[in-house]
Amino acid sequence: MPQSHRDFENLRIFEHPLIQQKLTRARQRQAPPMEFRRLLNEIAALMTFEVSRSLPTTEVEVHTPLEKTTGIVLSQPVTLVPILRAGIGMTEGVLALIPEARVAHVGIYRDERSLMPISYYAKYPADIAAGPVFLIDPMLATGGSACHAVAELKNRKCKDIKFICLVAAPEGVQRMLETHPDVTVYAASLDRQLNERGYILPGLGDAGDRIFGTA
Ligand code: PRP
Ligand code: URA
Repeated sequence: MPQSHRDFENLRIFEHPLIQQKLTRARQRQAPPMEFRRLLNEIAALMTFEVSRSLPTTEVEVHTPLEKTTGIVLSQPVTLVPILRAGIGMTEGVLALIPEARVAHVGIYRDERSLMPISYYAKYPADIAAGPVFLIDPMLATGGSACHAVAELKNRKCKDIKFICLVAAPEGVQRMLETHPDVTVYAASLDRQLNERGYILPGLGDAGDRIFGTA
């Protein structure tokens, strides 16, 4: 299994010192939910600045108090799709930069034994395929949950899908590359490997439990 992020053509890693410092704090096991949530949202906002770089725009006329000039607006509706539960923990951060985005939800958990994704909820805008979709989940482990969510989005005709996570395992990135090579994975870190229970090493533990204080 490749270990360097340069080995994956579908992966973008953020080496910015502010993102890496916040990730280091989030990894610390003593970080309470309040701090963990704050860090995840701050990292998500910093990542969004770069992830949104290629959003389509349209030129518009604008009247300043002094004269007429041109500017731009986003030309397509952006939809954020957090994977419940843990994706919720990064969504406010993305919304801080794209407040006009719609927020769809997809509920998926992975079975503890088989590690297979189980789908239990979905609520999307009817025209979700009219613009880019940011699929959000802090953890890309086996990749089962994220690939399942991408398949659901493609069933709804979505074409421009970006996956934003905090920590990715090589196994998950490889699976996304094989299953959905058109989807770019944006992550703060490519970690070493999965353990025998499918947890990312070094990772940051169970993200949903740490966000919501349910450990
Ligand atoms: C976690 C995480 C991802 C999934 C990643 O969710 O938030 O959705 O596991 O694992 P995978 O890549 O192997 O599918 P979990 O199943 O713990 O559900 P939760 O967010 O409701 O706690
Ligand atoms: N889900 C998590 O929350 N953490 C992991 O390390 C793997 C899957």
